Amino acid sequence: MEDTKPRAIYLQDYLPPAYLVDAVALRFELGEESTRVSSRLHCRRNPDFPGEPQALVLFGRQLFLTSLLLDGRQLQPGEYRVDEESLSIPGVPESFCLEVNTEIRPQENTSLEGLYKSSGIFCTQCEAQGFRKITYYPDRPDVMASFTTTIVAEKARYPVLLSNGNLVEQGELDGGRHFATWQDPFKKPSYLFALVAGDLVRIADSFTTASGREVQLHIYVEQRNRDKCDHAMRSLKKAMRWDEQTYGLEYDLDIYMILAVDDFNMGAMENKGLNIFNSKYVLARPDTATDADYQAIEGVIGHEYFHNWTGNRVTCRDWFQLSLKEGLTVFRDQEFSADMTSRAVKRIDDVRVLRNAQFPEDAGPMAHPVRPDSYVEINNFYTTTVYNKGAEVIRMYHTLLGAEGFRKGLQLYLERHDGQAVTTDDFLAAMAEAGGRDLGQFALWYSQAGTPVVQAQGSYDAAGRVYTLKLSQSCPPTPGQQEKRPFHIPVALGLLDLDGNDLPLQLEGETAPLGTSRVLELRAAEQTYRFVNVPSPPVPSLLRGFSAPVQLQADYTEAELAFLMAHDSDPFNRWEAGQQLASRVLLKLAADHQAGRPLQLDEAFAAAFGKTLCDSDADPALLAQALALPTETYLAEQMAVADPEAIHAAREFVRRALAEKFRHEFAAVLEASARSGPYSIEPAAVGWRSLKNLCLAYLMTLEEPSTVDHCCRQFQNGDNMTDVIAALACLVNSAGPERQQALGAFYEKWREDPLVVDKWFTLQATSKRPDTLEQVRLLMEHPAFNIRNPNKVRALVGAFCHGNPARFHDRSGAGYAFLGDRVLELDRLNPQVAARLLGALTRWRKYDGARQELMKSQLQRILAAEGLSRDVYEVASKSLA
Ligand code: TRP
Ligand code: ZN
Repeated sequence: MEDTKPRAIYLQDYLPPAYLVDAVALRFELGEESTRVSSRLHCRRNPDFPGEPQALVLFGRQLFLTSLLLDGRQLQPGEYRVDEESLSIPGVPESFCLEVNTEIRPQENTSLEGLYKSSGIFCTQCEAQGFRKITYYPDRPDVMASFTTTIVAEKARYPVLLSNGNLVEQGELDGGRHFATWQDPFKKPSYLFALVAGDLVRIADSFTTASGREVQLHIYVEQRNRDKCDHAMRSLKKAMRWDEQTYGLEYDLDIYMILAVDDFNMGAMENKGLNIFNSKYVLARPDTATDADYQAIEGVIGHEYFHNWTGNRVTCRDWFQLSLKEGLTVFRDQEFSADMTSRAVKRIDDVRVLRNAQFPEDAGPMAHPVRPDSYVEINNFYTTTVYNKGAEVIRMYHTLLGAEGFRKGLQLYLERHDGQAVTTDDFLAAMAEAGGRDLGQFALWYSQAGTPVVQAQGSYDAAGRVYTLKLSQSCPPTPGQQEKRPFHIPVALGLLDLDGNDLPLQLEGETAPLGTSRVLELRAAEQTYRFVNVPSPPVPSLLRGFSAPVQLQADYTEAELAFLMAHDSDPFNRWEAGQQLASRVLLKLAADHQAGRPLQLDEAFAAAFGKTLCDSDADPALLAQALALPTETYLAEQMAVADPEAIHAAREFVRRALAEKFRHEFAAVLEASARSGPYSIEPAAVGWRSLKNLCLAYLMTLEEPSTVDHCCRQFQNGDNMTDVIAALACLVNSAGPERQQALGAFYEKWREDPLVVDKWFTLQATSKRPDTLEQVRLLMEHPAFNIRNPNKVRALVGAFCHGNPARFHDRSGAGYAFLGDRVLELDRLNPQVAARLLGALTRWRKYDGARQELMKSQLQRILAAEGLSRDVYEVASKSLA
């Protein structure tokens, strides 16, 4: 048998394209059986291609080639070569027109990549390499062409026909068919191409840009969803205004369209002028969507809109540069959300994601730099490292250059590279130039993987009134990178005096203090800073606002953590001190559980918790963040050998112990929140709801009849999904008869709304009850479950495997076997979704010997399967390597 192991692609092998495409005219004849795609490419040799003229190579997968014409002449089979991945034509002239005719079957496309159907709607997903499943093309981001697209379809079934840019022609055809022609005035890579045909309703609005141009805003949805688009439309207009005000960036076409579909592999896609969204990130009504959903919609609408400049106008030279657009655009959407809601709460949420997902990725076998050096399947590199660590890298430029320097750098980058496909080095160069800074060492953030560890040690000299802070850094090895060079790390800090006030900060050699919060630049493996005129021993507040994606090790006493928790002027670090204190307590209890010792609530921790809980001046949203214990996933990361059982036991014990100790205080907050006014989506109301529902969850651990009653009433009478789902979540963890009643009633009420049914699946999959896996298995048979729909898979299977560590890691190994079955089943339908699910097994080395064996055997079983996709092959093989 031939060796068909997929091969890796390397950044160092990059070559510019041998041929460029100036213009492409596409014609789609959409059919129920077969869809005909004809493509006319105007090509010419690339003057920048080094070396001899080459054959023209076009990428294509799963296409049926019907004919091929070069400058109008039909090519014979001997004049070109076709294989599984490409079409090559040797001896093409310097400049020519190529016509490629192919047939595809979108209705059978379950990978949701290329052209496919979702609830009867034709739609496309081309990033990263889906365009090659539509037609043969130089499907790489450094080939940018002008697109004209004609769509022909049956009018009754597909009254709406859309593509990128402006509608230039439409009309009727014979046999009940009609057509529309769209022209995109901006050159673009094929990954930004989009096509839509379906029976859709249009929600229309408009936006006047700063320079006075009117832009039509259209959201297309299925008829049944027409009353759920207000929030998305409002968010879009806010995002457009924000980018004008923050960066002076205006939208550039006269029309901006968004389509929402139920079947989508990711969150959304920034296709030029025609974004396609997972309906989860568009549709919302107070009774169907939670506050978290509303916030996610605002963030993703912003994200895709911001891509118009950072991604589309300036795009990536190759897919190794993915973070050039994704890290930058995530940073932009984070800042947008921070400005629309609460900056501190948003920062805490973002750091939670980083620590719960990115740090683990960076510590495991799939660790890769923000700009990877190689990949087997590019779809596996749409990772939390590229997105979220990438956003942290952008944030560090912002911290080092300041808001104004960063704005100048971004403007220089966009002006210099408008219309080009560029690299992260180009971005760094623009920032360095605009900021007047040497960022040579900073570039290591792009090339070195792993989470750096920063150690801090302070000492105070009372006689000299000097506080000495020693910072040192190191970075653990990652695959292919044993040794790391020191990073350029911005460490924002302050010093608190005995009363908890910020001290003026004056470094030795400076003539006067420079503020009370400043940024140190750690560049060496070890650096010492001497602060002078410090009147009393200070408590340092380090890494304020989480100024770098590092793991900080500071030898704080528990008293110091409690002090920072109460006094730090930086709200992020107040939260952080509480989390560190709670982590210590929880990890100690986990050790007690392992050793069979009785568990006892730490008094000092309880006192600090109680003080926070009773702080009636605090912002409710921040209070809710402060009172939430670190997640089981985060705690597992802190253990040398993760013990999901012990962590779960410890965390549940503390939740119950706190509920018992503070039942009156929790109840008082519940009561206060009842007076917080009618439902609104404003940040203050959201904050109150998060606090109230957190208190309810604590109290429900006691399962006292009066609380259960309260919970049932909130479930039945809640006028918004946030309150209803919070109550239902508590009931789903409880043992009483209310559980089944509530679940049944909820399903009956919402069975026609797929996004709400997803929540119903997730609550059951993340239940703490011991029979959860059995329930998940049963739910896979439920008529509302559909393995072809990624949202359903994520809501049920993904939620269990990624979001329920205590049950997934059951020592029997049943969770692992379940995952193995699902990965193999899904790989035949949708490799992208299968590979992501498999991510739950990659960190097997983090567990005890018995669990390691069980996890490894599933990985081996998967790797041995025949006909594996590149996606799953890469994750399984790298996990075992
Ligand atoms: N560019 C998209 C975003 O982050 C990512 C994306 C959407 C994607 N759909 C995809 C990536 C499918 C790979 C496959 O906004
Ligand atoms: Zn993006």
